Amino acid sequence: MARGPLRCKIGPSILNADLSQLYLESQRLLDNGADYLHLDVMDGHFVPNLTIGHPVVKCLRSKIKTAFFETHMMVSNPEKWIEPMADAGVNLYTFHIEPVKEIPKMCRLIREAGMKVGLALKPATGIEEVRQFIELADVVLIMTVEPGFGGQKFMNDMMPKVQWLRHNYPLLDIEVDGGVGLNTINACSEAGANMIVSGTAITNASNQRAVIASLRETVESSIHKCNV
Ligand code: DX5
Ligand code: ZN
Repeated sequence: MARGPLRCKIGPSILNADLSQLYLESQRLLDNGADYLHLDVMDGHFVPNLTIGHPVVKCLRSKIKTAFFETHMMVSNPEKWIEPMADAGVNLYTFHIEPVKEIPKMCRLIREAGMKVGLALKPATGIEEVRQFIELADVVLIMTVEPGFGGQKFMNDMMPKVQWLRHNYPLLDIEVDGGVGLNTINACSEAGANMIVSGTAITNASNQRAVIASLRETVESSIHKCNV
């Protein structure tokens, strides 16, 4: 994949926001400085929880025309939802590699549908499982909690995976997700993550703008150190 200069991007997860007001909550996050929206899609099978699907994403897209949407597909059969999510206006389709037999084919189908490709790893999945597919991806997502629920404790022992990726792929978009907030952003940024998903730490904050700005400042200072 062609990789541009490394940039910090903050993508709030709306999972624990007030979903009865999904549009307003999403717009507020964007107005407060979010670079993209991380939309958690769960099927009650790959993970023990249910959230939103493509009909909801499509409605959200009809109200928010230009923002970058990532869907984090925590589903057993991610191939099934490629077309509906592309039709719903998704920009980045991030799927878990664990249930997928033909990862290159998935990457190709996602691209043919007009979306970028993200490869996600559960905590127990080693980096060697994804290694041979990194060139096919735009983003690698290292989960820092067991997928399924917001508000869990950050797993610091996932940082060696991020470090390994950054060391070997200096310009790769590396995303972290789960328990990331003001107390854990240092570990993420020092390890080399540049795409930061943060749910409860942002949506529960009284000053979302300040939290987003602070996360960004920490990541940008690490990116700067890498570049000098
Ligand atoms: C967990 C989801 C995450 C999560 C983030 O399965 O993929 O996106 O909701 O929420 P926090 O930041 O609260 O862990
Ligand atoms: Zn997520």
